[in-house]
Amino acid sequence: METISSSSRLDFKNLVVSTKAKVLMRDVSGSACSGDLLAIMGPTGAGKTTLLNVLAGRIPFDSGTINLNGQPFNKTQRRRLGYVLQDDIFLSNLTLWETLYFTAMIRIPDQVPQQEKIEKIYRIVDSLGLRKCLHTAVGDIFSRGLSGGERKRANIGCELLTDPDILLIDEPTSGLDSSTAHSLMKQLKDYATQCNKTIVATIHQPSSQVFHMFSTLLLLMEGKMAYFGLASKVTEHFARLGMPCNQHYNPADFLLEILTPDISSKLEEENTGKIQILLGKEESSCSPYKINGSNVKKITKDRRHEDVELVLVKPLSEDIVVEKSIIGEGETTRRWSTSIWTQFKMLNWRSYKQSKGRIFEKFDLLQAAFIASFASILFFQIDDSINTVRDRMGLVTISLIYWSFQMLITTLLGFTGERAVVSKDRAAGAYRLSAYYLAKITSEMPLLLSVPFVFNTAVYWLAGLGGVDGYFVYLGIGTLNCLMMQSLAHNLGVLIKNVKLSMMAGNVIILGGLLLGGFLNINPPDWLKWVKYITLVHYPYSAIMTYILKDMDDVWCNQTSPDFYSQCGNNTTDVLTSRDVLMGIGVELPIYCYIMTIVIVTSLFYILGYYSLKLKRV
Ligand SMILES: Nc1ncnc2c1ncn2[C@@H]1O[C@H](COP(=O)(O)OP(=O)(O)OP(=O)(O)O)[C@@H](O)[C@H]1O
Ligand SMILES: [Mg+2]
Repeated sequence: METISSSSRLDFKNLVVSTKAKVLMRDVSGSACSGDLLAIMGPTGAGKTTLLNVLAGRIPFDSGTINLNGQPFNKTQRRRLGYVLQDDIFLSNLTLWETLYFTAMIRIPDQVPQQEKIEKIYRIVDSLGLRKCLHTAVGDIFSRGLSGGERKRANIGCELLTDPDILLIDEPTSGLDSSTAHSLMKQLKDYATQCNKTIVATIHQPSSQVFHMFSTLLLLMEGKMAYFGLASKVTEHFARLGMPCNQHYNPADFLLEILTPDISSKLEEENTGKIQILLGKEESSCSPYKINGSNVKKITKDRRHEDVELVLVKPLSEDIVVEKSIIGEGETTRRWSTSIWTQFKMLNWRSYKQSKGRIFEKFDLLQAAFIASFASILFFQIDDSINTVRDRMGLVTISLIYWSFQMLITTLLGFTGERAVVSKDRAAGAYRLSAYYLAKITSEMPLLLSVPFVFNTAVYWLAGLGGVDGYFVYLGIGTLNCLMMQSLAHNLGVLIKNVKLSMMAGNVIILGGLLLGGFLNINPPDWLKWVKYITLVHYPYSAIMTYILKDMDDVWCNQTSPDFYSQCGNNTTDVLTSRDVLMGIGVELPIYCYIMTIVIVTSLFYILGYYSLKLKRV
């Protein structure tokens, strides 16, 4: 059930926001009370989203104050704030039901029974008119899914599920037809009045019906305030300034017209000092919140205009305790709504659903089948003889490099699609980063490893690389190589935002490894012989080759060519053991050193991946 929030008042005063290059917002003030629908209007680029971001604590402000019930609006209180972003950011492969189910399970406290959470989803779905597309995938630019309007309502639905006390909504009606926009705004207005919620919404071009639902209105133009006060009094205010609105005209259209840059600058010139905060005493729709049962005094702080006052709420004395603050004691003040186990379980579930389609992409499977068939035909039942060492080196190298690239691409692309969603969820305080990271790794692991598993199995047996023990070594090391590349790709994906650059970095690492790893150039200059140890591919390659060649027959130099075994030189009486042959192709250490190195490097990459996520605040 939606809870009835206790009365509260959100005040923001003289907010200034700037970047290095320009001032985005100058001296913007206003307030919103529970039960109210505060609309923020202004032309595009006026600073509406910037203001919501500041209120939500997503971007810092240079000066000014934001208070809740007279106290600075802090991080703990912001946990009861919902923010519907202007952009609808979702995971594309999930259906609407899955998206809402995930949100409900992760953001509604564990104490609420699952059945109740599900009922709540249905209630919200019905009220937003989303029942008919409940099992449609959200979709993205590559695959069609929910329509723009449905995505917008889904976005609002997700926030409504969390039952916030203050709901900030950026452009709820954009992309909706006027009748749907009207019914959505009506629901929001009812939600505000019936459940005593505070709703702050930016709106571009409301119909006159929607306009009349607004309790208070804040008009912005080029980052500055043009008006703040009761929506019903705005036309009166501008009429006083010499700009009457025709009674048959939609007030919203009229306001946007006068706020367009050329008209507004003229307006500013003509009426310097007249565009003011307008919230007269008698006009305030806020019912002051109660402190120990008595109403808070309204204190006039600013008298810039004869009949204009900014009403501020201030506690009567320092030691007064707010009787029932917006954040109740106990569960709502906890850092997370759900336990780490619930978060891990649900994130695992979501990540699996999202990644399944991406990893088992038809063309990727076809590509793997094609390469496996090609390699198997070329190396079919290869002899276990001294003359096929080069062929086996080639086959092992191709398999390792192919799967290194596949892991890199799949992981990086997956991360790119998810980054915005995780940032949004994290900004809303939905889950711990550690739960997300663990869930992502563990859910993707079986999916990512299943295709190379089949590929390596097919290639090993078709090429006849060895017996059963060799198969497990080949498969195990192939798997470790995949994990090493996945963990590397996690770091690249997090640290380098630009996917093209992160792919390039991965290519350099893999191809650099191929060049320097000791298997393409087996006779590097002496001073560069150590370089192979800093390549990643060298380790799985060397481990597999050690095992494959461990039982090979001795090589009699008089029966072979120095082209194949350069160690033979001109001395045809020499005999090379498998150890000599391995040394000849740059494999110098015992197999366990290679395996241990892969395990250590992979573990380090996984640990670093977590700290990179933390550092980059994804
Ligand atoms: N990080 C930033 N760096 C530079 N300029 C910025 C930045 N963020 C916003 N702006 C600029 O600040 C202005 C206000 O942006 P904002 O997104 O708040 O506008 P808006 O009123 O929400 O517009 P719209 O109705 O188109 O969504 C714009 O001119 C925008 O280009
Ligand atoms: Mg905006």
